[in-house]
Amino acid sequence: MKKSACLIASALIVASTTISRADEGMWLPILIEKNMATMTDMGIQLTADDIYNINNACLKDAIIALDGGSCTASFVSSEGLIMTNHHCGYSEIQSHSTVENDLLTNGFFAKSKSEELANPNKSAWLLVRVEDVTSDILGAIPEGVGENRRDEIVDSVATILEKKATDSTNYDARVQAMFYGNNYYLFVYEIFKDVRLVGAPPESVGKYGAETDNWMWPRHTGDFSMFRVYCAPDGSPAEYSEDNVPYKPKHFLPISLDGYKENDFAMVMGYPGSTDRYISSWETNNVMQNENSVREQVRGIRQQVMKEFMSGDAKIRLQYASKYASSSNYWKYSIGQNKGLKRLHVIDKKKDIEKDFAEWVSQDDARKSKYGNALKMIEDAISQNGDYERASNYISEALLRGCESILFAIRNNATLASYAEKGLTVDKSKLEASMSKFFKDFNIDVDRQATKAMFKVYMDNVDRKLWPEVVASQVAKNGIDKYVDDMFAKSIFCSEERLGAFLQKPNLKTLAKDPILVVANNIYGLYSDISTKMFDNEQNLYTGMRLFVAGLMEMNPDKLYSPDANSTMRLTYGKIGGYVPADAVVYDYKTTLDGVMEKADSTVREFNVPAKLKEIYAQKDYGRYGNPDSTMNVCFITNNDITGGNSGSPVINGKGELIGLAFDGNWEAMSGDIAYETELQRTIAVDIRYVLLMIDKFAGAQNIIDELTLVSSDKISESVSE
Ligand code: ARG
Repeated sequence: MKKSACLIASALIVASTTISRADEGMWLPILIEKNMATMTDMGIQLTADDIYNINNACLKDAIIALDGGSCTASFVSSEGLIMTNHHCGYSEIQSHSTVENDLLTNGFFAKSKSEELANPNKSAWLLVRVEDVTSDILGAIPEGVGENRRDEIVDSVATILEKKATDSTNYDARVQAMFYGNNYYLFVYEIFKDVRLVGAPPESVGKYGAETDNWMWPRHTGDFSMFRVYCAPDGSPAEYSEDNVPYKPKHFLPISLDGYKENDFAMVMGYPGSTDRYISSWETNNVMQNENSVREQVRGIRQQVMKEFMSGDAKIRLQYASKYASSSNYWKYSIGQNKGLKRLHVIDKKKDIEKDFAEWVSQDDARKSKYGNALKMIEDAISQNGDYERASNYISEALLRGCESILFAIRNNATLASYAEKGLTVDKSKLEASMSKFFKDFNIDVDRQATKAMFKVYMDNVDRKLWPEVVASQVAKNGIDKYVDDMFAKSIFCSEERLGAFLQKPNLKTLAKDPILVVANNIYGLYSDISTKMFDNEQNLYTGMRLFVAGLMEMNPDKLYSPDANSTMRLTYGKIGGYVPADAVVYDYKTTLDGVMEKADSTVREFNVPAKLKEIYAQKDYGRYGNPDSTMNVCFITNNDITGGNSGSPVINGKGELIGLAFDGNWEAMSGDIAYETELQRTIAVDIRYVLLMIDKFAGAQNIIDELTLVSSDKISESVSE
């Protein structure tokens, strides 16, 4: 529990329920020393140096940002083997799948390294070191400069620091702001680009419960997949090559066979993407009205279109599986977040904080001159941008994300134009590869129908002043259906054949009158105009927030604040334990295979348990992965503070061993990215012993089991199987 002197925490604390101590905070590993006393108290047996140290191997060396932070993974062998979630490997598993060889449905485990599957766009980022560069950056900013100028100075100093950190190395470096630019840190990475798929269970395990159970507890999903990081023979990062060798990590995680009990210490290290814990009451309202509600409405409509086509056609189902899942994921999240924000009275709690802050500021002249304008700046910026914000979210959700061909045209316009103009200055094979990748998972009937629905929802909800002109005039002339039908009948951007013909004989004239490109340019232009109009207010909002957060910290000098997530490595610690989601309802901290079988329904795709798993269950054939009472754990929950980007993160016990993989948050606390709810917020993880059961007993992938280091309290049973 945080100190009661702390304003934010005290405003949020509600009656204590199942867990005695909960810990908000996504801490920077470089500063973890400050939390060590509490963590030791709670049961960790490691030192700060075991967690982060740039001279010796430590936990941070086992943690990987996939693709720069879209998900997290961790090393589990000395041969570069990594574990992450099934949903983090989903698009790769899908991309290797065809109707005839469907890895999503059947699962896949490479029997040897030569069977591992390459993934051209997957990368594994390893953190080399972190430096606090706050004084370098702030020291270069003169008193009283405007936000624009400040940005320029920050960028130029950051570029120098990044260059210095990477010169004559193969590193990548980036400076990132914390606390709205009150602090800056430099992160140095090594980026590995040859990451091969090693294994994944069938979707009926890895995504068990699918959309119905997504963001929910109790959960029964075996959400894991495995990859291997390869490097050049000298250990340096390299693009895919047959000559590459498995990367040897400085540290990999031993896997615990011991399990856990309620209240055991647990921590998660990974790359949380973004939180907004400090935003104001006004911004919270804006998120609810102009962001979440828009997303809920627009995605709901498009998903209906996808679903209808997917249910009638096996090929379309595979093509759209990943697109549907990713759309649905934050659609459901947005619905849950609005519900949670309302139920937990988050706006009122934020207002209380703002009131206390204003009161504290008014007590002192120095505070008044420093922080006196902060809240007003924030309030004005939000209210003045409201309509633009709404339109901009409708454009992004409906007209860009919602219309595949339009987005494809925007992304490839420049390359195609330069190809048509200058001939083969662009790499034609690269161009063709990106085209065939798009068309592999594209169906023109789905996109045509979705585009009609997207134009309609836009025009029904956004003020006429903010319609793309082309759409407005064409729809007035022909109606939505005819306009869109004509567009799809002619454009090169929705037909692999037409685009192929264009590539044979490229010319600018065809591009200039392509109906999808014409509307795409119009939409994109409007989107940019609106962003320009919002720019000044956004700058003011950022300045206001920087002052507000600095003031809050000054007001509560004894509280340890953790910066919002921003896809940099963080550590969160807490305990294993259940919660009380509603009056008279108590949730346990773990689920078992019994629950998988209770939910099983062979007539519903989401809950169709594989026969092999039923067999294992019937025979209670759990080997050393089961409990002494012949039950088999599947998932468990902790009060660790995670968010999107943490998916796949290792859940680590007090000894630094892997006990699970984090993969979700719980429905009752979807407001958590804006306000952490001590009593409610939980991390949902798959038990590592369930992962092992799947690899070993289900898939029979002995080669993988042999590679892992399995430990139990009385013996190290490395590479020994039953
Ligand atoms: N909610 C989880 C996350 O954001 C899982 C998402 C994938 N699963 C799904 N059913 N769409 O990481």
